[in-house]
Amino acid sequence: MAASRLPYPLTLTGDGIILREWRSDDLDDLVSMLDEPEIARWSPMPSPFDVEAGIAYLKRCYQNRVGGRRIQLAITTDGSRPLGEVTLFGVDHGLKEAELGYLVDARERRRGLASSALSLLSAYAQSSLQLGRLLLRIDSRNVGSTAVARHCGYRLTGEPPILQEGPYGSSRLDTWELVERQADSRRDRLRNVAARRYGRRT
Ligand SMILES: CC(C)(COP(=O)(O)OP(=O)(O)OC[C@H]1O[C@@H](n2cnc3c(N)ncnc32)[C@H](O)[C@@H]1OP(=O)(O)O)[C@@H](O)C(=O)NCCC(=O)NCCS
Repeated sequence: MAASRLPYPLTLTGDGIILREWRSDDLDDLVSMLDEPEIARWSPMPSPFDVEAGIAYLKRCYQNRVGGRRIQLAITTDGSRPLGEVTLFGVDHGLKEAELGYLVDARERRRGLASSALSLLSAYAQSSLQLGRLLLRIDSRNVGSTAVARHCGYRLTGEPPILQEGPYGSSRLDTWELVERQADSRRDRLRNVAARRYGRRT
């Protein structure tokens, strides 16, 4: 149904980040980013992730984007070099729910990129796509990812873990749900600065 296709192309701009479509000339950056042990451990990427895997990945990404099936955007600070990826997939327009995922280049971690990207795409999913239930599925041993989830206002739902077998053994994916509304982060921050300055509560 045309109305349920996700928008393409899309660029989302937040505080210090720009989420943009993947491009074919991102291939070298994509391969060097995804051929990495933590990504192999915690995501379903093929490992080793070589040029052939990269070409297939960008092709599948493009097909999913033009088909409007998922949103899959490169995380950048200025629209140029990709530093990570954030994804929205598994959309159920009837239930108004979707799942999100993220990863960041090993050389660019711990500078807030995953949390900024997740907050920005979550806010867009709530406000522009009218998706009311946003979910993450995370192995409880993935401390980096659970920290990002918590930081962005996601909380454990208490649903039974989803068991998966992979090359690193079994994993138990907990379900996290966004419980705080993600407002426009810049407007929110400005309101909070004003509140701190003038003693108002927002
Ligand atoms: C998980 C991952 C996306 C985090 O990306 P990041 O850009 O480094 O995360 P951020 O800088 O936004 O960190 C947000 C919070 O998480 C914390 N955090 C990030 N990585 C952490 C780690 N390895 N251990 C403990 N805390 C961590 C940060 O300190 C920060 O905490 P704060 O809010 O208290 O300051 C990245 O490590 C990664 O790509 N891992 C491999 C792929 C993966 O696991 N993807 C998720 C699959 S569910």
